[in-house]
Amino acid sequence: MHIRQTLTQRIEAAFAALDLEGAALVQSASRPEHGDYQANGVMAAAKRAGLNPREVAIEVLEHLDLQDIASNVEVAGPGFLNITLAPTYLAQAEAGVVAQTAQPSTVVVDYSAPNLAKEMHVGHLRSTIIGDCVARVLEGQGHRVIRQNHVGDWGTQFGMLLTYLQDTGANSTELADLEEFYRAAKQQFDADDNFQQRSRQAVVGLQAGDPAALEVWQRFIDISMSHCQQIYDRLGVTLSSADIRGESAYNDDLPNVIADLQAKQLLTESDGAQCVFLDEFKSKKGDVLPVIVQKSDGGYLYATTDLAAIRYRTGTLNANRALYFTDARQALHFKQVFAVADRAGFNVNAASLEHMPFGAMLGSDGKPFKTRSGGVVKLAELLDEAEQRATALVIEKNPDLAEADAAALGRVIGIGAVKYADLSKNRTSDYVFDWDQMISFEGNTAPYLQYAYTRIQSIFARGEIDVAALPSQTVSVDEAERLLAVAIAGFNDTLEALAADGLPHLLCGYLFDLATRFTHFYEACPILSSTGEVRERRLVLAQQTAQTLKQGLGFLGIGVVDRM
Ligand code: ARG
Repeated sequence: MHIRQTLTQRIEAAFAALDLEGAALVQSASRPEHGDYQANGVMAAAKRAGLNPREVAIEVLEHLDLQDIASNVEVAGPGFLNITLAPTYLAQAEAGVVAQTAQPSTVVVDYSAPNLAKEMHVGHLRSTIIGDCVARVLEGQGHRVIRQNHVGDWGTQFGMLLTYLQDTGANSTELADLEEFYRAAKQQFDADDNFQQRSRQAVVGLQAGDPAALEVWQRFIDISMSHCQQIYDRLGVTLSSADIRGESAYNDDLPNVIADLQAKQLLTESDGAQCVFLDEFKSKKGDVLPVIVQKSDGGYLYATTDLAAIRYRTGTLNANRALYFTDARQALHFKQVFAVADRAGFNVNAASLEHMPFGAMLGSDGKPFKTRSGGVVKLAELLDEAEQRATALVIEKNPDLAEADAAALGRVIGIGAVKYADLSKNRTSDYVFDWDQMISFEGNTAPYLQYAYTRIQSIFARGEIDVAALPSQTVSVDEAERLLAVAIAGFNDTLEALAADGLPHLLCGYLFDLATRFTHFYEACPILSSTGEVRERRLVLAQQTAQTLKQGLGFLGIGVVDRM
């Protein structure tokens, strides 16, 4: 059920009947006394027509047919429409069921994409989990999602690493700590001219496709990728080896990119480098900025690879949409690359290319999140700590629990807490990483939602309820029931908005509101102590809440547990 879409259609039909132009601007009501949904579009439409907004709102109301949807529609203030939904309409919602899109599209979701020269660190967390959530939702709606893990697996650093790997014959235990391996290789590189020389040759060998060099490279990549896969598995992220298409995959196509830009007369040589100058990109001083696609030594750049990737994604993969989850500092890069691709005809389907930027993860001091000694925080260590903290909390709450059970719970709760803390913030802003807040059972946190879920399960257990035998739908009667039903029915509106804008925090906010409404409902409407129809109706609402929580958390890649 799409409440917003349905209300929008009806209200805009009334606009049309009155020759008004404009969008209905329907949203969830900002306060309960404004009903469940409100439409804010009348004022602008009236203004455009040079009419009195309140009078127009009253006319819209007269032309508006919401009989089957709303129990009440009112004009408020200068011309808002406040809408209260009817229990019979809400009863038609299928709890936690994802509405399938009428227009499936092919969507490339580019996320995670760590640099394989080093180990994954906290800087990769946001792209990995935000991208994964958006991919899951689009897929759930019936779109064809193609995940692309555009890993950094090519470039000069690899010459250094391969040479070091060959020299030391490093075995897998030494490569268990990639960060340490990188440091050691770099130290050698900085200290030893001969090593430096051989590292440069190794890069040339790689570029030229020398089989021996490629073999060592592949060995390194496989080890590094297996580190990443362990993190993905722990995080419950859906990426697998099939989704990897790293920078190296485009290597052979880069000369073609340059030749095609040349043929389109888009290239200008500047200081020996090949550049594309587009008028819309100017420095503060007003100089047109170059997009460098080939260095004077012939080497290619990050942008060149992204141009090749756009052609592949829109041409070969046939994407209608490509979403890029990277940190906000890459905003200019993507603007430029998208513009060059359009100009050069590389965006084959005229696909929608969308950069989905995110802010930084900060420490409690408001500076980028670091270890105590100022180093980068490895993702693996962060997840260890999350699990330990959550397990300790579980043991504190359930001292009798077997150790293995506590650890299993601690994993789901700890990982869920870290993910949710990130996903619940608007991705465009920075956020402060705070262990105590994220692992708390109160407020907009994963433990709060997981706990809400277990509480419903324990109601069923206490009442010995055969959940499968409950009807799937019911008509609410009490106001607290109806308010809960409104939240349950809003699920698909939320997913729609999330998929359109790539904003997982909308789903988090939705689930938090749902759980909060459940708490109010549970206080106002006794379940197990009531009888007959009332009891059944409330059990159905409880079950619908649980299903929606579970499905919603599932889209965030967060598990539920039966006890906490
Ligand atoms: N490897 C890059 C980084 O670590 C992210 C790649 C994002 N995707 C892309 N198509 N450029 O910053």
